[in-house]
Amino acid sequence: MQTTYDKVKQELVSVPKTWLVTGVAGFIGSNLLETLLLLNQKVVGLDNFATGFQHNLDEVQSLVTAEQWQNFSFIEGDIRKLDDCYTACIDVDYILHQAALGSVPRSIADPIATNDTNISGFLNMLVAARDAKVASFTYAASSSTYGDHPALPKIEDNIGNPLSPYAVTKYVNELYADVFARTHGFNTIGLRYFNIFGKRQTPDGAYAAVIPKWTAAMITGDEVFINGDGDTSRDFNFIENAVQANILAATTNDEAKNEVYNVAVGGRTTLNTLFTALKENLANNGVEYTQEPVYRDFREGDVRHSQADISKIKNALGYAPEFDIIQGIEEAMPWYVNSIYTN
Ligand SMILES: NC(=O)c1ccc[n+]([C@@H]2O[C@H](COP(=O)([O-])OP(=O)(O)OC[C@H]3O[C@@H](n4cnc5c(N)ncnc54)[C@H](O)[C@@H]3O)[C@@H](O)[C@H]2O)c1
Repeated sequence: MQTTYDKVKQELVSVPKTWLVTGVAGFIGSNLLETLLLLNQKVVGLDNFATGFQHNLDEVQSLVTAEQWQNFSFIEGDIRKLDDCYTACIDVDYILHQAALGSVPRSIADPIATNDTNISGFLNMLVAARDAKVASFTYAASSSTYGDHPALPKIEDNIGNPLSPYAVTKYVNELYADVFARTHGFNTIGLRYFNIFGKRQTPDGAYAAVIPKWTAAMITGDEVFINGDGDTSRDFNFIENAVQANILAATTNDEAKNEVYNVAVGGRTTLNTLFTALKENLANNGVEYTQEPVYRDFREGDVRHSQADISKIKNALGYAPEFDIIQGIEEAMPWYVNSIYTN
């Protein structure tokens, strides 16, 4: 049966659009770029390489045809500069705004930097997009907005208090987006991502996400640290599902706009289960990891349990995740094995 996503992709191929992807050299941005170029779309990319990499762009280039790569133009620029945002928005139909400083611990260590990019930079993008009269503006929101609200699964309207500066910035994005709808008639869509994982998510650095960090440690034979008792749980979501959500959000009709949507699978996996799943999958890829995990203190600012209700995005946008966590790990693992062994 043809899904909404299949239909939208067909329409895009027959009438290509121009997209702006901010944060294009990062994990999610470069995966959006790859899919859009493979659909013969024109893409403008904006990035300042704060946490993104030229090698992500090079890898996308190697995965598309020379003709498709010519549809990509890159602006090395900064969303904290309004002029860069205006330049990036010229002649663009759809914006997928991903640029931000991610990571809860980074925001605790340096709240000013996180605020500058995630709030001031976001506002710059909103103003530039509004003035450019783009057809749609979709932005990366975050499940961290649920904060200390205890209910599971998480439903969009029921949020608690933020537990970190990062969570504050992502919630402020939603408030600004909502106010721009009221005061400027500029309607946007916020996608509250729940732990996205997949190829090109960096395992390096102090602020790496859990799946790439553990996978790399297992491949190199290092210790795997579990923060807390391992019963902390997350709704891990494979990148292809997040790409689908972005493309559906960007192309949807006006009724579905001025809303935020959970982007997840609707499952819940504990860190202990994740450890076993990664270890088993690596064994299937020829990597044996025999060490036990090392348990240490809970991490400040972390939400204890996270699981999304995805009814809203299913009903409004026709979102239908194609990969559960195990299928996602199976897809992602060969890339990690390959990229870590060749580095
Ligand atoms: N990965 C997840 O699980 C997850 C979960 C919730 C929300 N998000 C959000 O999704 C978005 C993308 O995250 P990601 O995981 O791809 O992270 P990432 O760090 O890989 O990508 C972010 C990109 O934004 C760029 N950037 C940062 N500051 C910038 C600035 N001032 N100007 C221009 N570019 C700038 C970085 O260089 C990087 O390429 C972020 O907004 C993040 O907060 C991600």
